[in-house]
Amino acid sequence: MAGLLAGKSALVTGGASGIGRATALAMAREGARIAIADQTEAGAAETVAMVNAAGGQAIAIGADVSREDQIQAMVARTVSAFGRLDCAFNNAGIAPRNVGPAGQRTHEMSRESFDAMLAVNLTGVFLCMKHEIVQMLAQGGGAIVNTASIAGLVGLPTATNYVAAKHGVVGITKTAAMEYAQDNIRVNCVNPGYIKTPMTDPTMAERYDQLMTKVPMNRLGVPEEIAEAVVWMCSDRASFMTGASHIIDGGYYAA
Ligand SMILES: NC(=O)c1ccc[n+]([C@@H]2O[C@H](COP(=O)([O-])OP(=O)(O)OC[C@H]3O[C@@H](n4cnc5c(N)ncnc54)[C@H](O)[C@@H]3O)[C@@H](O)[C@H]2O)c1
Repeated sequence: MAGLLAGKSALVTGGASGIGRATALAMAREGARIAIADQTEAGAAETVAMVNAAGGQAIAIGADVSREDQIQAMVARTVSAFGRLDCAFNNAGIAPRNVGPAGQRTHEMSRESFDAMLAVNLTGVFLCMKHEIVQMLAQGGGAIVNTASIAGLVGLPTATNYVAAKHGVVGITKTAAMEYAQDNIRVNCVNPGYIKTPMTDPTMAERYDQLMTKVPMNRLGVPEEIAEAVVWMCSDRASFMTGASHIIDGGYYAA
């Protein structure tokens, strides 16, 4: 298949839903063979079926990104299926309401909720990078894109745990970019604003109008609008881009 990622092997975490699923489909359209990972193999398999139906090539992997043994196995399985790992999209993530009651300010948030968030949204990204980079060093290069957020660049009331994790993702992205710049490994992050996915559906049901006043385009983004940028950031066209936070937010950060 011809395209921006022709001949490349890619890995997407959180590939069963939302931004991860849209990106897996876009990567396949651009010629990559894809390992689609999510908490359950069954979820990932649904996206694999969509890729296959569109004429692409993909495998499904069940892997919890907070578990290092599972991440190591995920990378090994990708390499055993496709021979190498050129592009990794570390995207799996959870929202504050997944680890505690919604609407909590910092003094109300439990230590458990803070730790549980970091385990997936920050430590998960670190562990993915760690094992992907080992493979990329061995094969002579690669490109990594981590999913951060506008919450990695600004504060977001009642999301201290999420904001901490996403600021952390921005920081480890910059650091890894510097560490591996001489090894032909580029490391960037994408910083979406409010995107219509199952993650944001409950929040939007409660306060869509209020949140949209902060977005100059006055609408939610769709996952495909993030996927297009991630494909490009993973491709050789982005050859001088590393350590960057690529904001896609309908103008939120500029306002
Ligand atoms: N939707 C938005 O507005 C928005 C904005 C900024 C950043 N993000 C980030 O984008 C990423 C994708 O979110 P989305 O909006 O597509 O949400 P989503 O809920 O549709 O998809 C997230 C996926 O991650 C998976 N996942 C969760 N925990 C996991 C774990 N421990 N191991 C493996 N997989 C796990 C889920 O099963 C799900 O398939 C997340 O990192 C999120 O923080 C989303």
